[in-house]
Amino acid sequence: MLKTLYNLIGEYKRAALIAPFFTALEVVMGVLIPYVTASIIDKGIMTGDIQKIYYYGAIMVGLALISLYAGITSGKYSAYASTGFAYNLRDAMYKHVQTFSFSNIDKFSTPGLITRMTTDVSNLQNAFQQIIRVTVRAPLMLISCFSMSVFINAKLSLIFISAMLILGVLLFLIVSRTMKLFSQVFQRYDDLNSSVQENIAGIRVVKSFVREDYEKKKFSKAATNLYNLFVKAESLLAFNNPVMNLVVYGCIILLSWFGAKLIVADELTTGELTSLLAYVMNISMSLMMLSMIFVMLTMSSASAKRIFEVLTEKPSIKNPKEPHMDVSDGSIDFEHVCFAYENGTGENALNDITLHIQSGETIGIIGGTGSGKSSLVNLISRLYDVKSGVLRVGGRDVREYDLETLRNSVSVVLQKNILFSGTILENLRWGKEDATEEECREACRIACADEFIEQFPQGYHTHIEQGGTNVSGGQKQRLCLARALLKNPKILILDDSTSAVDTATDAKIRTAFASAIPDTTKLIISQRILSMQNADRILVLDHGQISGFDTHDNLLRTNQIYQDIYRMQMENDGDFDESKEGGAEA
Ligand SMILES: Nc1ncnc2c1ncn2[C@@H]1O[C@H](COP(=O)(O)OP(=O)(O)O)[C@@H](O)[C@H]1O
Ligand SMILES: [Mg+2]
Repeated sequence: MLKTLYNLIGEYKRAALIAPFFTALEVVMGVLIPYVTASIIDKGIMTGDIQKIYYYGAIMVGLALISLYAGITSGKYSAYASTGFAYNLRDAMYKHVQTFSFSNIDKFSTPGLITRMTTDVSNLQNAFQQIIRVTVRAPLMLISCFSMSVFINAKLSLIFISAMLILGVLLFLIVSRTMKLFSQVFQRYDDLNSSVQENIAGIRVVKSFVREDYEKKKFSKAATNLYNLFVKAESLLAFNNPVMNLVVYGCIILLSWFGAKLIVADELTTGELTSLLAYVMNISMSLMMLSMIFVMLTMSSASAKRIFEVLTEKPSIKNPKEPHMDVSDGSIDFEHVCFAYENGTGENALNDITLHIQSGETIGIIGGTGSGKSSLVNLISRLYDVKSGVLRVGGRDVREYDLETLRNSVSVVLQKNILFSGTILENLRWGKEDATEEECREACRIACADEFIEQFPQGYHTHIEQGGTNVSGGQKQRLCLARALLKNPKILILDDSTSAVDTATDAKIRTAFASAIPDTTKLIISQRILSMQNADRILVLDHGQISGFDTHDNLLRTNQIYQDIYRMQMENDGDFDESKEGGAEA
């Protein structure tokens, strides 16, 4: 894992090395300054030699300036290196996520991926910045201050050793307990993030079901959990300072006590005692910093792991080695196909499906929710791969085709479809980049979208909000349909794509299909029997299996499930969901 992350530092490695170099310089200055102070006191103040005071004073100012410059430079480079690192991380993740198949995305979930690309990357960025500064600074400071104090007076440095041992043990105790708490904090963060993302993404549904109170409670529970953990962890950490002060002051008292005796015995000068006191402060500060590094590492290791998981996820669907670049026709053959979702219950969503569809046929697909309709059609454009069996399009296994070629020939209007922010024309051209305005109009005519688009004041240049929130459910579905038609596909699949369109318009769209794209194989999933009774054949799915595959008339005679659905819908005037127009979110 560290190697992958290390490689992503990339072109910022130089900055990541320059920063510690300047930190080291800053430390050296920090160690020398107390030593010079000792000289000012001993050689200047104690002897009353004003020249010496000027001389050492000037050296001290010089050292302080160098230290200042080194501090600023190392800060600059570490910020540069860490933001660069974060940039590389996000870039690598984003590019990698683009290669994900649907089942890869299922595994992480969309909010999960967003958290990993934002919060987790920020955590790692902060940790990285701290680490390149502090990992060099603290140990270096510790060692050099300690050596200086031994150099000044070996006996007194014994006091240092014992004090630092005590402080070290106490800090270790505090920090190891906080580390445990902090690792829990990050699990809670996930809860909080998913609560926020789910709510904001679905805010319209929340409002229309008047679930605000419920959502507020859910959020405040996640937030309170996090709050409690944080308070606990931070209040433990808050002990760090008092403990440090206690040890430092104890040390100062001891130093003064023994130091005074040594001064009287002429074994130590006043200046040397002052610099020893300064080193006590420095050493305990570095111990404290070291202990914070461990906290930092715990906090960021969870994030690093999560980022690493995304970066190393293998795209489950890849282009074959020698891809076939041409789909000959729109025939579809399933041979004993089984399929299961990797993150699902483990049960097959599709079981032993065998069926043959000729090029140009119009097929209706019906069945209860969860019967496997969407799963079946998603296999055709290879959004998922079959678990066993073979699926052929144009007489060839779908896994032999170049993915782009296949997906251009198989146009799917997904059940959960979305529009992107941009004008209507821009959205339509997702189907075909270089489509002329005339081609776009034609596609909209077939999809019955032309009527409402022309009523917009800006027509085809009307701006669509992100997610298509400023058009009705039925209008959105018709735009998605037009976008799919522009691909001029060999196979067109509509996954419940006209559910929010009124029955009359629905019928008009089907008539237009018959005359405008007669050679395209059309698979139409719908809850309405009316939408498909004119189809060449109708596939009835039940619990992932084929219950019937025949014409409307034959099914009415032979298939129990089909009869039940038919009877129920006729009792309701055959149009039980017309009221969806306008309100439904596709
Ligand atoms: N992304 C997914 N991950 C896991 N299970 C899924 C996923 N999508 C659908 N399923 C499951 O697969 C089965 C078939 O679903 P689906 O094909 O969407 O049915 P339909 O479109 O007929 O309503 C259901 O039991 C459903 O819970
Ligand atoms: Mg479905």
